[in-house]
Parts: sequence; C-alpha cells; structure tokens
Amino acid sequence: MSSQGGRVVVRAPAKINLSLAVGPPRPDGYHDLATVFHAVSLFDDLEAEPDDDITVEVATPSAGVRVHQVPVDSSNLAVRAATLLADHCGVYPGVRMRITKRIPVAGGMAGGSADAAAALVACDTLWRTGLSRDELRDLGAQLGSDVPFALLGGTALGTGRGEQLTPALARGSGYHWVLALSDHTLSTPEVYAECDRLREGRNVPDPAVSDAMMQALRSGDPEKLGPLLHNDLQNAAVSLLPELDRVLEVGRDFGALGSVVSGSGPTVAFLVRDNEAALDLSVALTASGVVDTTVRASGPVPAARLVEPMVLEH
Ligand code: C5P
Repeated sequence: MSSQGGRVVVRAPAKINLSLAVGPPRPDGYHDLATVFHAVSLFDDLEAEPDDDITVEVATPSAGVRVHQVPVDSSNLAVRAATLLADHCGVYPGVRMRITKRIPVAGGMAGGSADAAAALVACDTLWRTGLSRDELRDLGAQLGSDVPFALLGGTALGTGRGEQLTPALARGSGYHWVLALSDHTLSTPEVYAECDRLREGRNVPDPAVSDAMMQALRSGDPEKLGPLLHNDLQNAAVSLLPELDRVLEVGRDFGALGSVVSGSGPTVAFLVRDNEAALDLSVALTASGVVDTTVRASGPVPAARLVEPMVLEH
C-alpha cells in the first residue's frame, strides 16, 4: 500500500428520505428504521492531497449554508473517516482535505455523512487500500447511520438504524425536487427524542415501508409517489420548529405533488412534475417570505465518487 502522491476530488450527494418509519427507542439509544433513501443532485465536493497530518478546511459557494458551524478539528466527520480508514489499514499517512459545502449543515440531508463518505473514497484512492465498496460501507456505518447510503447512492431501502441497505428498483428518468432550506438547524438526537415524547404511551408498530410506496417507485410516476411521501419524524420536527407547517402549506398551495420534511429536518423536500414546475414553486416559496433559500435538484443520483482525476466508467 503506497501513497499515490496525487490530488483527488470526490463528489458526494445529499439524501432525502422518501419514506421514514421509526420504531420505538432501542436499548442502545438508536431507533430501528424502515426508510427509502434517495440521493439528490445537491453535492459536497471534497478535494484531498497527501500531507503530514490529517486536516480539513471547509468553504461554501452557496448562500444559506453556514459553514462556521462545521468543526474543523478531530471531531469533523471527514477527519474521523480518514483516521478510521488509516487505523483500519494500519497505515499512518496524512491527508489535507478541503470541503466545498453546498449541503445544508444540520439540515436533515446527511451533509456530514456525505463528507465522511467522500473522505473514505478519497483516502481509499490516495492510499490505494484495495478495500471494496462493501468494506468501505462497513467502515462508514461506524461513523454514522447515513454514511453507508452515501456510498451506495440511487434509491435504496434502509433498515436497522439505516445502515442496512438494499437497492430499490426505481424506474423512470428521475424525479424533480424543490428543497426549502431553513435558517434554523435541528439536532437529530433532539428530533428523535421529541418523536418519542409525542408518541409516549402509544403502541409503536415495527417500522415498515408500504407496498404502495414500493409500487410507486417501480412505476417511476411522480404523481403516484407524491401523496405517499411520509416521515414519522415530521411531527417532531414541526413541534420543535412550528414555522415548518407554513412552509409545507405554501408548497401544497402552489401545486407540489407531495412534500416531506427531509430526515430530522428542517429542510423540506417538495416533489414536482418537471423543471418548469420546480422553477414556479421556487419563486412562490421565496415570494411567500417563509423561505429564504430554495434549491432545485433531481434524483436519484450516484453515490460518492471520484470526479478528478476522471475515471472511465464501464
Ligand atoms: O448515526 P448518527 O450519528 O447519524 O445518529 C445521530 C443520532 O440520531 C443518534 O445519536 C441517535 O440519537 C439518533 N438516531 C436514532 N436512530 C437512528 C439513527 C439516528 O435514534 N436509526
């Protein structure tokens, strides 16, 4: 295993959950999930080159992404990913990483997980570890529940705490989304805790993804998928940030086929018919004054992957 000595750039996608069913709390503090992950065309780029230490810096070209909230010390998920990979392979090379952040921080779109996945792919390439994607996904699961999906991409069913993945058969040329970014952040553990509080005393069924959802995905028809978008964490996110209700209402009023809070929020994802509808809804959301920043995106898109140097895909 040797250091290649080059420079690589890895692009990693944000995710939304088309369906997120949350079970009761487990003894380890996590919750069993049944979810449909969907990778969308909002990306963080991670540039990496060999160095003496493992370091990271973070910048953003996007309005509405607050990078000052991202730690740049050893708690940064990209630094943790590089360190974990080095420890796992028994090598101690350094790497200098620079993240260009477009995925909102603490927005429910797995931005930190995307960066961890990007760091694993970048360092794996630089250090020529020879690990398979499956092995990288196993390492990724140690860093966060959403990291393995960022290494799989597309549309996939997630179970366990979200780390057990099965690619979903999804047809069609893809879906069009409008993402309403929030000025606020939500803490994932707090949203799960609020979900538990709101459901206290109730019998919580084992989490499952409905057959109707799987059929809609197979059809590739956004009109079928729209009404089935669902998130068990949505009430909890709205309870902690009531203004989200208004955002959801504006989307409904302006013709979204469906809407859902993404993961633990506060980003809201609206499914629309086509590009034109996406543009109309973006304008309506900003004109309503309830949303400052919207992003148009499509999905599904591929997993974290090398974009420089270019690799020929077969
Ligand atoms: O795995 P990750 O570090 O992303 O999870 C962050 C937090 O979200 C966990 O500490 C836990 O509070 C909550 N969580 C959960 N059940 C899951 C995934 C995350 O309770 N399946």
